[in-house]
Amino acid sequence: MDAIFESTLYTALRIDGNNICDYLESVTNLLAEFSWVYNFRNIDIFIYDVLEKIPADWVEELVAISQEELWQLPFGYTKEKWPTSLKNFVTKCKKLASYRFATKKFQDTVPKDNSNLLEKLSDKKQYEVQIMSYLIKQVCQVLKCNTVIDVGSGLGYLDEALHDNFGLCCIGLDAVPKYTLAAKERLKSDTCKHSVLHKTFEVKNTDECLLHFKAVLNEAKELHCCCIPGISESRAASAVIVGLHSCGNLSQDMMELFCELEDINAFICIGCCYNKIKLTNFPMSTVVKHSVSSTQKVYPEWYPSISGLRLAAHGTRSHSCSFPVSEEREKNLFYRALLQCYIKKEQIVWKKPKRHVRTTDLADFDTYCSKMFEDHILSGDEKILRELKKLYQEKSQIFHRIRILLVLQMMLQPLWEAFVILDRVMYFKERNIFVEVLEMWDDSVSPRNLALCAYKR
Ligand SMILES: C[S@@+](CC[C@H](N)C(=O)[O-])C[C@H]1O[C@@H](n2cnc3c(N)ncnc32)[C@H](O)[C@@H]1O
Repeated sequence: MDAIFESTLYTALRIDGNNICDYLESVTNLLAEFSWVYNFRNIDIFIYDVLEKIPADWVEELVAISQEELWQLPFGYTKEKWPTSLKNFVTKCKKLASYRFATKKFQDTVPKDNSNLLEKLSDKKQYEVQIMSYLIKQVCQVLKCNTVIDVGSGLGYLDEALHDNFGLCCIGLDAVPKYTLAAKERLKSDTCKHSVLHKTFEVKNTDECLLHFKAVLNEAKELHCCCIPGISESRAASAVIVGLHSCGNLSQDMMELFCELEDINAFICIGCCYNKIKLTNFPMSTVVKHSVSSTQKVYPEWYPSISGLRLAAHGTRSHSCSFPVSEEREKNLFYRALLQCYIKKEQIVWKKPKRHVRTTDLADFDTYCSKMFEDHILSGDEKILRELKKLYQEKSQIFHRIRILLVLQMMLQPLWEAFVILDRVMYFKERNIFVEVLEMWDDSVSPRNLALCAYKR
């Protein structure tokens, strides 16, 4: 199978076969060397003294620049007079991150009038569905196929767009019955009832699921659409498996199914929530496993952790640039982390209140603590409040480091995401399946925008 989109500017992670090992090694070495930047939950920063680990000469320079300049670091912003270690870190991160971003976005190829607008859908989802459905249609056209199996279909908007705009037949599978029901409910008013089905189906990488999936594929062969003349006649006996924001391990389970199923010719999937990936199934590819082992020879303690995967699942640098972290959010994190440090040290059992922290709760640390302990058995305990205040006073002079830490994390975010996606790319390559990664849309609008596309023939 040849590339469908390979020669385009919207392909991300285009790394020559010979250079992939070098790239992976540079990424894993940097992630291992700077694991102190991310290898914890952010609410545990005082338990691990993370803010104190930021080199003092970095802090000195970074507090002296504006917030706008600070958020330009992930784009490579440096100053000549900065310490060499800081300049090197910024430059290396920027260079390695550049592979995660394509020159252009696939959205630029989507005709503006290609889609009926889906009612009741947020602008963001509508935007994603339009671009994703157009990509799927392009692939189906090249492969002469008009059946789509949409895994993790949720409320079925993608399937509706694929059918209504391009005459494709779809089966939407979702593990949650209420989503399947809602999707079916919406279909009731559709005049073409033989082209889109929704089923409750939990996709897993098991033999039983594989059999079940084969039955779904047989069912898919019975679907037909008469809305758009000519479409059903051009139908081939193959299908495309797709997923829009397939969370955690679902993308990987879909990849494994795709490799097993002959009747599925293409795989198009945008993943999300990488932090929900099972570490027993990550990395998937031999090449990435090797690069991890080789990095562990220098950094024996390092391994691809959930904290790293959580960073991969964060918003991207453009997102942070458009919506810089507010002082309120910084305060929230600082206060929460202080509380976390105290309750851990004192072994206090404390459940985070369900409600959101309000702006008024963040007026000062005393107010915050009183609010957080409001329904707790220790509410009003003067000794605890005194000790918490003491802890606050000890740490308050490093409050400004919170923002610096968040920016350093943002510099490693694209490296973590590239690492996850390249692992998937290599998994397909190792099975001789052609694969390409397309950057679909503006990541400041929706950060999980990398579509992994694989074709068998
Ligand atoms: C982030 S939502 C995306 C929904 C939809 N594709 C969209 O873009 O609006 C992920 C969906 O995958 C479903 N899901 C998660 N794990 C699944 C699995 N193993 N099998 C089938 N569906 C799953 C969830 O119930 C959820 O509806």
